[in-house]
Parts: sequence; C-alpha cells; structure tokens
Amino acid sequence: MKEIIPSEIPVAKLFGYLTGCVAPRPIAFASTVDKDGNPNVSPFSFFNVFGANPPVMVFSPSRRGRDNTTKHTYQNVKEVPEVVINMVNFQMVNQVSLASNEFAKGVNEFVKAGFTPIESDLVKPFRVKESPAQFECKVIDVIETGSEGGAGNLVVCEILKIHVDESILDESGAVDPHKADWVARMGKDYYCRASGTSVFEVEKPGTTIAMGYDQLPDYILQSKVLTGNDLGLLANLPELPGKEDIEKERASKEYQQFVSEFATIDARRKAIHALAKQLIEHGDFVRALAICIEG
Ligand SMILES: Cc1cc2nc3c(=O)[nH]c(=O)nc-3n(C[C@H](O)[C@H](O)[C@H](O)COP(=O)(O)O)c2cc1C
Repeated sequence: MKEIIPSEIPVAKLFGYLTGCVAPRPIAFASTVDKDGNPNVSPFSFFNVFGANPPVMVFSPSRRGRDNTTKHTYQNVKEVPEVVINMVNFQMVNQVSLASNEFAKGVNEFVKAGFTPIESDLVKPFRVKESPAQFECKVIDVIETGSEGGAGNLVVCEILKIHVDESILDESGAVDPHKADWVARMGKDYYCRASGTSVFEVEKPGTTIAMGYDQLPDYILQSKVLTGNDLGLLANLPELPGKEDIEKERASKEYQQFVSEFATIDARRKAIHALAKQLIEHGDFVRALAICIEG
C-alpha cells in the first residue's frame, strides 16, 4: 500500500487522492442570492444529506487551494442564509459544469449556463426548473474547518420544502433511481452516471441478525470459486442450514449424479461451489449454503 501523510504532500495532490477515493459524490447545484438579490448557482460535490429529523444537508464551498480566496456561494450564504439545493441528473450535467466557471461576482449563472430560474415558496434564492429535485433550505450554521487554502466551509442547511418531479417517481410514490438518472462526481474530470447495471440492489439485513463470516466453515471461506460478495450473502443468513435442509439437497438425483462425476475432494468442492454460485445468483441462499456444507 502507498502510504500518505497529508501534511507531507502539496494540498493539490492531496485533493486528488481525497476526491479520487471518496467517490462518487452526489452534486448539490446550490442556488443563492447576495444581499442585493443577485442570483448565483454553482455545483458542489462536497455534499450529502445528514439526517431526516430535522432534515439536514451539508455542502462545502471551500477556500481555493490556489490563492485562498472564498467562493461567491460562501459569501452569499453569509449575507443571506438561504439556499436551494438542486440535484443534478445526466441531462443537465454539461450545463452544470458550465455554471462552475469562475464568473465575476454578480454574474448570473442561470443566464450563463442556460438554466431557468423559478421562484421558491419559502426562501429568496431561485429553484432550477431543469432539476427534478429541489430543496428549499435555511442555512443554520456555517462551519469553517480552517483558514488556509483548501479548507472547507461546511454550509449546514435545514430543508424547509422539497419539490420532486413526478416523472422520477414509481407507482408507490418513491424515487425510482432508474428514472432519476443522477450523476455524481469522481476524481479528476470524471463523473459517474447512476443508470443501467450501475444501479443494483443489496437487500438490507432483516430483523434477524446475520450469523457472520466467523460461522462459515473454513472450506467455504477459502473457496476458490465463491467471492467475498458471495460469502457476504451467505454469512447474512441467520444460521447455518439445518440437517433437514442439507439432506434435502443431497437426496436429489441431480445432486447425486453431479457429485459422482468428480474424483477428488478438491474438484468436487469446486464444482459444488460453482453450483452454489448459480443458486446465489438466483437469490437461493439457504440452498446454496446447504449444498456447500460437508460432512
Ligand atoms: C461537479 C462539480 C463539483 C464541484 N464541487 C465543489 C465543491 O464541493 N467545493 C468547491 O469549493 N468547489 C466545487 N466545485 C467548483 C465550484 O463549482 C466553482 O469553484 C464555482 O466557480 C464556484 O462558484 P461561486 O464562486 O459562484 O460560488 C465543483 C465544480 C463542479 C463542476
């Protein structure tokens, strides 16, 4: 492993490691106004949601590493502690990037980047019409994490009102990730599009507690076929399969014929694990584990 002590490398290089490794990051397209009401809208990927009760989001218009100046968005929220956080989908990503140009103070990025400002209901900053999810927020705190170039300015926002385009909802009214088509920021100039096979499900652990890796026999943990992800699914079961489940699997003709084809324990184990892998792919975890149990 490469070892890095943050204080021993230039901030720009450190920034590269941080943004490359902590990725993908969602993008807050933050709309603010200055004290004279001039609008500003800029993207920030040092961003996330941190609670639902109260509903809180945080983003960070940081101090520039280059010259330690501050961003207009930071200056604006100090003058008018309100913001609309607009989420970014694939359809708008190039315009969002355009809005991140370092335009002079007072220049309206809605105009420069071709976005449509719409009035908010509870705060002064405009919403971005093209964004399918808009959060009207009041700024409840600004936490400066340092005074040198590259330091963060955490803008802590409490959400007052949410606007979600119905076109990204499923029949039950929940956000459908396949319809939302969100994009996220990675290191360098890379982005990530949450669509197609990039979007997949990992079932939450249920109310019964998982048995964990330590309960799986060594010959399964050391499998040459099953991966860490496969074992993660098997270890998520509450317990090892009982005698009955194991015997049921072994009793089937297909299984008997299958195992009789392999002369050595190693070859048989490999083949059984390959079979278990198929069962795992079909979500049949108890059966998968049951056929792997030996003895
Ligand atoms: C996708 C994306 C994400 C960005 N994330 C951040 C960020 O988290 N913090 C930051 O300070 N600048 C970030 N930037 C750069 C700012 O958007 C850029 O400095 C912008 O000019 C700031 O505008 P302002 O001075 O009007 O606030 C990001 C740019 C892009 C394109």
